[in-house]
Amino acid sequence: MRPDPGRGAHASLLSSDSSAYTMISFSKMTFAALLVIFPAVTLAEERPTNVTVCDYYAEKIGGSNTVETEKLVMALVLHSSLLGPYSKYNSVPIADFTGALVPTVFNGEYVDLRDYFNGGYASTNTGGSSGVAVNFWDDGGIEAAMQTLPGNGNATANQDRFFNHVYSYFGTFLGCSFIGSVELPAYIGKASMYEVHKFMDLNYAELGYFIDQAVRGLLSIGFTVSDAQYINATLNAVFGERCSQPAAIIPPSAGPQLQAICIADDCPLALNSTCSSYDVVIAPAVANATLVGNYTKAPNGSTSVNTSYTVTTWSTPTPSTSTKSGAGKAVTRLPAIGFTIVGSVLVSMGLL
Ligand code: HEM
Repeated sequence: MRPDPGRGAHASLLSSDSSAYTMISFSKMTFAALLVIFPAVTLAEERPTNVTVCDYYAEKIGGSNTVETEKLVMALVLHSSLLGPYSKYNSVPIADFTGALVPTVFNGEYVDLRDYFNGGYASTNTGGSSGVAVNFWDDGGIEAAMQTLPGNGNATANQDRFFNHVYSYFGTFLGCSFIGSVELPAYIGKASMYEVHKFMDLNYAELGYFIDQAVRGLLSIGFTVSDAQYINATLNAVFGERCSQPAAIIPPSAGPQLQAICIADDCPLALNSTCSSYDVVIAPAVANATLVGNYTKAPNGSTSVNTSYTVTTWSTPTPSTSTKSGAGKAVTRLPAIGFTIVGSVLVSMGLL
């Protein structure tokens, strides 16, 4: 049997007219196509245009619009995108919704996002000229995330900072009326999403998969197709185009900042691109080979696999948990064949 990082789960979205293993991303879908794929969610009542996305779903999901329910929805948005249908709030069944931490083949390329979070890659921007390995599972790990918590309460942990910053970022992005309160503080992380992600060297498939899972997560908690589609289009337009012009986003007071998160060679080039404003792309170094397992990135963002091991869960809370084994989905990588082959080539050959 050939190894399969998610093919079964993605079967209903396989393109019939191209590579059998190419998953159609939301970014390429029309609204009509989304309606065909998710007929069940089309019945949802539309959001009134005078109510923000955050406030509307706080009431719809939490029963009333309070700071607690707004924060709950922002947490569900992030946790669902990473973990898939992990909670009672993920009540709408959505095809191919695994969470972005489950490796897959997306647009013909093997994608494994776990090693940006577990310290496998030296991919975090701590202010220097290259990335640093940071474990973002340092305060309760996946188990805390499964409880819809930012961590176990250690405010100085990487995990708590990451989750709380992203709740606040999306709380502003989606118009939470309680943003700026003690419980849902204003965003205090970096204003440039390029600066945050630049040492990750994220490619088209990586960003595409993350956004794809985020959008499936929104649908799973009851977002309407039109709201999910709008967020999908906005995320792709704002963060998915290489060399995009600086833009003032969050906080607006920070003024125009570089915002491209997709910066590898295969990312679509923005209109009015300004590549000279961006640094030369650096592929992240492998900081923990046990975690990464010889899954490496070239400077152009392409990914390579040249070893053999079995991934049976994405649940690798700390680098000291040095194996990728446990309960979960089986993902077997190819036997060692003595040379490195770009994942997409393997896919097009039907080997992944
Ligand atoms: C729609 C696209 C995305 C948005 C809007 C987004 C947004 C953010 C925000 C707001 C932060 C917090 C930054 C700070 O605290 O200063 C963050 C951090 C982070 N993001 Fe993303 N992100 C996106 C895609 C991705 C993808 C595809 C990955 C790949 C794995 C990723 C991995 C991370 C990691 C590891 C951090 C922690 C970095 C740090 O604290 O320095 N993000 N992201």
